[in-house]
Amino acid sequence: MSDAPLVIAIDGPAGAGKSTVARALASRLGFFLLDTGAIYRALALTAARAGIAFSDAEPLGRLAETLPIRFDEAGQVYLGDEDVSVAIRTPEMSQGASTVSAHPPVRQALLGLQRKLAARGRCVVEGRDIGTVVLPWAPLKIFLTASPEVRARRRFDELSAKGQTVDLAKTLEEMRVRDERDSSRATAPLKQADDAVLLDSSELGEATVVDRMEALARSRFGADLP
Ligand code: DC
Repeated sequence: MSDAPLVIAIDGPAGAGKSTVARALASRLGFFLLDTGAIYRALALTAARAGIAFSDAEPLGRLAETLPIRFDEAGQVYLGDEDVSVAIRTPEMSQGASTVSAHPPVRQALLGLQRKLAARGRCVVEGRDIGTVVLPWAPLKIFLTASPEVRARRRFDELSAKGQTVDLAKTLEEMRVRDERDSSRATAPLKQADDAVLLDSSELGEATVVDRMEALARSRFGADLP
């Protein structure tokens, strides 16, 4: 047993099912869920509203330093008093978040915020670089992936279920563009930490993935869990 706070880092590409399983895992363990992608999405939304281009690294970095973001216990995302949980989930904000997140000043500005939010412990932190850069000390790291086709189909189903008009081929193409950008950026690219457990969810149902994660958490944290 280490003295590090009870934190589970879950990283992986878009559409691997991270958000859903991370939420389910957090709820089974009674942990808080920190969705770090929502922070980049909220920054993209703020930039779009302020007329700042997603390519404009320095102003975006300054905006990130004072981003008035907070999460409630239910995981809703707020900018100031406004609940932006739905507004940040559009395909435009997916691409926007991926673009703004590639800028080093943005990542630097958001590092401290993510660490502060995770310091409370008993949380599942979901993102791209949590195990490698943000919380390299996390006692349990999981890298969750799935094939691009499976991930595109899941994202398509998710957006369709929300009533958004989507095209499967376009979703797959957007997924590839986002994977390429997230994995090839110079600062904190998407990559599996050396000591992360790899889980491929292409052939696994959500419940099975959560079962495996819970088993990993119980074997790692044992008596500290309810
Ligand atoms: O997980 P998501 O789809 O909500 O993330 C949106 C974008 O934010 C993603 O394309 C890359 C970026 N991101 C990141 O760079 N680092 C993180 N820890 C989380 C998300």
